[in-house]
Amino acid sequence: GGGNDGNQGMGGMGGGMMGQGNIPSLESSEGVTELPIPPVLEKQQGQEFDYEVTAQEGSTEFFEGISTDTFGYNGDLLGPTLKLEQGESVDVKITNNLDEPTTFHWHGLEVPGEIDGGPHGEIQPGDSRIITLEADQPAATLWYHPHVHGSTAEQVFKGLSGMLLIDESSGSTSELPNEYGVDDIPLIFQDRLFDENKQLDYNRLMNPDGTLGDISIVNGTINPKLTVTQPVMRFRILNGANARNYTFRLSNGASFTQIASDGGLLDEPVETDALTLAASERAEILIDFSSMTDEESLAIINDEGVELLPFDVALDGAPAGSAQMWTADEPFVSEEERTMPVTKEIELFGMMEMVTINGKTFDPDRIDLRQQQGVTEVWEVYNEPDMMGGMIHPFHIHGTQFKIISRDGKEPAPNEQGFKDSVRVEPGERVKLLVTFPEKGVFVFHCHILEHEDNGMMGQIEVY
Ligand code: C2O
Ligand code: CU
Ligand code: CU
Repeated sequence: GGGNDGNQGMGGMGGGMMGQGNIPSLESSEGVTELPIPPVLEKQQGQEFDYEVTAQEGSTEFFEGISTDTFGYNGDLLGPTLKLEQGESVDVKITNNLDEPTTFHWHGLEVPGEIDGGPHGEIQPGDSRIITLEADQPAATLWYHPHVHGSTAEQVFKGLSGMLLIDESSGSTSELPNEYGVDDIPLIFQDRLFDENKQLDYNRLMNPDGTLGDISIVNGTINPKLTVTQPVMRFRILNGANARNYTFRLSNGASFTQIASDGGLLDEPVETDALTLAASERAEILIDFSSMTDEESLAIINDEGVELLPFDVALDGAPAGSAQMWTADEPFVSEEERTMPVTKEIELFGMMEMVTINGKTFDPDRIDLRQQQGVTEVWEVYNEPDMMGGMIHPFHIHGTQFKIISRDGKEPAPNEQGFKDSVRVEPGERVKLLVTFPEKGVFVFHCHILEHEDNGMMGQIEVY
C-alpha cells in the first residue's frame, strides 16, 4: 500500500506528511462482473405522486457468499436513476425506512431551500413527505444523497447515493448518445474499506479526514467490466467517494472528449487524456471505440494505472455516426463578470476534526451569509494551508450552478468552463466564483469530503 494518487493532498506540490496520511492504493478490477446499470425510476400511475424514493436497509454480496449490511434507495445499495426532463415538474414521495433520521438532498438541482434536503430537512424513521421537484435548468448529470448533520458520511458510505439526470427536452436537436444503459452510461466511482468480516462498520473504519478505501467499486460492484456495443459511448461520471480524488485516463493513453461538467454541457467540448474529479464532482465524456478490434484491451484507469473499469469491446456493427460538436462564440465568463468585485469571502481551513469555514464550525441556528435571489455575486474561496501543507477541499454550494471566474487570477481550464456546483480548491489557492441563486431559502455550503462536512466544515446562506 502507501501509494499516492498524486492529486490528493498537496496537489503535486511534493507529498510528505498530510492530513490523510498515506492514501491506500486501489486494486485493479479483475473484470468478472458485468457492470450493473442503476434502473431508471419508473413513474407511478394512479398515485398522488409521480415517483417514490425510499431509504432503506439491505444487504449486498460484494464478496462471493458473504453478505454485507448496506443501505440503499428502493433496494439494497445505491438507488435508481431519477430522470427528469428539462422544464418538468414532478411530485416525489420521500420515505425514510431506516432506523435513524435521514434527508434527501438533490445535489446540483436548483430547488427552493425548503425541499433541498440539507441538514434542516430531516425525515424521521417511518416518516414520509411529498415534495415537488422542478427541473428548471440545463440538462445535466446530478445526484442525490443524504445530508443529516453528523451522519452524512456514514449513510453515503453504507450505500445511499443515486443519479439524478436532467434530460434535454424532447425535440432538442442534440445528437449526443442518449440511450440510457446502451450508449449513455452512468458510472458511480467509489472506494470502500471493509473490516475483517467484510462489513462496512463505519464507526471502526472511518477516518475523520475522509474515509479512504482500498477497494474500488463502480455502480456498487467490485471487479466490474463493461461490454461496449456502440462505437461512441457517453459516460456520466460521478466521483461518489467520501473523500478520494480520482484522475481518470484510458489505459492505452488515448484521448477522449469531455462534453459536460457538473451543471451541464461545457461551453465547448474538450479533448483530453486525463480527467480529475474530487468528491461530488461530475463530468460527461465521450469515448470513441470505433477503431478498436475485439482483441484490443482498454480500461478506464486511475493515475496509478489501476484498472477501475475494463471494457469488453463487442461492437454490434452500427456505423459510427460522429457526435455533433459545438463551439462557443463568446467567452464563458464575460469581461463584465470577470471584473465584478468580490463580495463574499470564504476561508477553508484545517484538517481532521479541526475544520472550519471563516474560523467557524457549522451551527444550524446561525446564518453566515445572505444573498438576494437572482442577484449575482462574486465569491472568493481561499484554501488556507496549515503547517502540514494543507489538503484539497472540494467546495460545494447548494441551490446554485456557478461559474468559475479564475484560479489564482488565471482563467480556469477549458473543462471548467461550464456550470459547476462543486470546485476543487488546492492548498493556498484562491478561486473566484460567480454565484446566483434562482430560488429562496436557507442553503448550506461546505467541503464535500463528507467527514469534513460532518465535522462542521459547513456554513449557511439565506437567500431572500
Ligand atoms: Cu452533495 Cu451538501 O451535498
Ligand atoms: Cu449538494
Ligand atoms: Cu475538506
